[in-house]
Order: sequence, then structure tokens, then C-alpha cells
Amino acid sequence: MASKVFKLIAEEAHRQKYGLEMIPSENYVSSDVLKALGSILTNKYSEGFPGRRYYGGNEVIDKIENYAIDLAKKLFGVPVALVQPYSGSPANLIITMAVCQPGDTVMGLSLISGGHLTHGANLSFSSIFYKAVQYNVGKDWKIDFEELESLAKKHKPKLIWVGTTAYPFKLDYKKFRKIADMVGAYLVADCSHITGLIIGGVHESPVPDVDIIMTTSHKTLRGPRGAIILITDRGLKKDPEIKSKLERALIPGTQGGPHNHQTAAIAVSLEEALKPSFKKYAVQIAKNAKVLAEQLGTVSETHLILLSLTDYGYGMGYQAQYALEEAGITVNKNTIPGEPASAFYPSGIRLGTPALTSRGMKEKDMVKIAGWIKRVLEEIRGLDLPKQQEKRKDFLRETKIKLKENKNLKKIRKEVESFAGKFPVHSIQ
Ligand SMILES: Cc1ncc(COP(=O)(O)O)c(C=O)c1O
Repeated sequence: MASKVFKLIAEEAHRQKYGLEMIPSENYVSSDVLKALGSILTNKYSEGFPGRRYYGGNEVIDKIENYAIDLAKKLFGVPVALVQPYSGSPANLIITMAVCQPGDTVMGLSLISGGHLTHGANLSFSSIFYKAVQYNVGKDWKIDFEELESLAKKHKPKLIWVGTTAYPFKLDYKKFRKIADMVGAYLVADCSHITGLIIGGVHESPVPDVDIIMTTSHKTLRGPRGAIILITDRGLKKDPEIKSKLERALIPGTQGGPHNHQTAAIAVSLEEALKPSFKKYAVQIAKNAKVLAEQLGTVSETHLILLSLTDYGYGMGYQAQYALEEAGITVNKNTIPGEPASAFYPSGIRLGTPALTSRGMKEKDMVKIAGWIKRVLEEIRGLDLPKQQEKRKDFLRETKIKLKENKNLKKIRKEVESFAGKFPVHSIQ
């Protein structure tokens, strides 16, 4: 009898086909990426690096890993690539361990300003084992370089992160470099969200200005879950030992055997990203995001939109996420800069176009989708988050039930399903 899991996978495949996936860190991988990921390569242990393994039988695995490394170096134009990190968060731990000692100071963009947990947020390893200093965005929602410079001069960080998860503007790596050089810090770009846009030439490449780059492979790069660490020429010059420090932080520092099926699938996605069609895809992601943002009354220079819902009421992030989900549109609640409600009950949503663009949607489709989003958001007016903290959990539970029964949302869902179902999704089933 077939495993129950396959029935559940079919259920999820239906959700992915008939809904609109608008979480900006998500994407649809190709059938070839899925094939490599589901291959027999998962059977093999190969701790170590090509030509330097702890186990025998790695002749073919060495060829696969070397191929992935060569493709990564070619795609980004860097001299060194490591393709074994299990995912983005462990990759950031590996980098931090390689360039810092426990207790050293690291600086990153605060979570509330659109930074990532691993760049120094509370409760993350990056603030538990290191001294974390956080910089912020200003009133214009853009990085406040004056604050960044003065914090860097005061705290003399060993490592400065430049990278974001909820930031709709382009990044100026040269400004970061200048500040890193003032204090002798390593400058590390975490491009996870925007790698596809960099490859497509929509965003500037950080390669000339930073020492190390980390990117997850599963966001705009459109590969399997995983991560790649790259060392630039500048990084090698700053620290000729940096490659072996990163390798040691990877194994034995934090990981064991590499996920060879994942490495192979990364190689497939890198082959795809090297094709001219990928550039077209990346340009379309940004065009779609720009139109979607305009339709929703805001701006985007990237693949994502950070939408403030303060016009709809107080602390509306959860309510919007629930209502949109009922309508078949998947987004996530998110804090907005200067968050007026709370980090746990935020006032905005984050939505993006990478996954929709992979399905072939274009500007005219974004206009339609923005129309549905605006109709959905009208349904949450008046459902403001209670000001009293102790009432919030019950309120949200009841709101979720109420939204499940909302007739207008059910009607929108039907329209969304019939629209989304027309756009193909890849599968190997
Ligand atoms: C900028 C950035 N870095 C790192 C990560 C962590 O990646 P993962 O979820 O694979 O651990 C993310 C994921 O959201 C991210 O956006």
C-alpha cells in the first residue's frame, strides 16, 4: 500500500496549483531539480570535500560536487564556492564562526527593519554567542547609513552583514564597504532574497565590494532548499586563510555529511540560472513586483512588497494573512518599519512575485491579483487587534473562524482558483 504521505503530497500539489503563492522567499522549481532532489544520491555518506572524504565510494559524488562548485563560481564570477551548507541559517552560522570568535561583535539590520534572524536578532545564535549590534531603517524605510556608521565606529564589529528579508529597495554595497573599511570589519552579503535579480542584472552584484557572499538556493535562484557560500577576490586578499576557516566551520564545526541529492539539485538549478531565459525570468519578477506595488499604492525596486495596513486598522497583519489565505492567496504577516502595533502582532504583510512569475504570470495578471487583494482587505476593516494584550489570542482565533465563513472571501477564492489553475506548475508525479 502506498504511503499516506503521497496522498498528502497530492493535496499540497493541489494547493500549490490552484492558489497564488506570494511569499517572496518561495518559488516553484523545475522538474529536473525535483528529479535530482528525489534521486538515489541521498543514499551516500561523504563527509569532507571532493578528493578529501572520510568515506570511500565517493568518486561520482566528487564529480557532482565539483560540477556544482564550478557552476557557482562561473555564475557569480568568484574564485571559491562552498555548496554544502544545509540551508541559509546554518550557512550564516558557518560564516560567523569562520570570521569571529565567540563574544566578538557582529552587526546586522534589525528584524523589524527587514533584516534576518541570523544577523544578530534576539534568541538567534547570532546574539546568544556573539555581541550583536543592530542597525535600522529610517523614516523613509531605507537603511540609515548615518546610524550604521556611528554604531560601527562605536562598537568596532568584526563582521557587518548586508542582506535583507523584507526590504523593497536596492542595496548600495559601496556605502557598506566604506563603513566596513573604517573599522576593519569583514563585509558579508546575504543575497538570499535577491540572488536571482543579481544574476538577471536587475540589481547590482555585491562581488566587487564584499568579502564573502551567502545565498540560499531556494528563493529567487529557483533551486532546491540549500545554500551556497562564495568568497570574492577581495575576501581572499583580506584573509588568505578564509577558505580553510569556512571549511572547518562547516565540518567539523557545524555539519556532518553533505546532502548529495541537494548538491546535485543545486547544480541543476545553477545550469538553469546560467541560461539566457533565466535573465528574462529575473527581469519579469521585478516588472511584476513594480506593477503590483503601484496597484497597491506603494513602491518596489525588488521582488517583494512590504505593505502597511495601517489604513485598514490597528495591528492588521494576522487578519490580512488569514483573509487572503481564505481567498487562496498566500502571503505572510510582517512588521513594518516603526511598527506601531507589535513584533508579534504586526501591522503589515509581505508579498512577492518570484513564484507567480515562474508560473508565467505577467504585468496584466498582477493588476488582476492586486484587485483581488484589495477586495480581500476590505473584508478585514473593523477587525482591529485589541489594545489589551490578554484579549489578542482569543480575538485572532475567533477572527479566523469568522473569516472562514465569509461569503465574499469564498467568492474571491473561486475566481482565484479558476485563474491560477490555468498556469502550469512542474511536477514529477
Ligand atoms: C536573508 C536571509 N538569510 C538567511 C535565510 C535563512 O535561510 P533558511 O530558511 O534556508 O535557513 C533567509 C530565509 O528566510 C533569508 O531571507
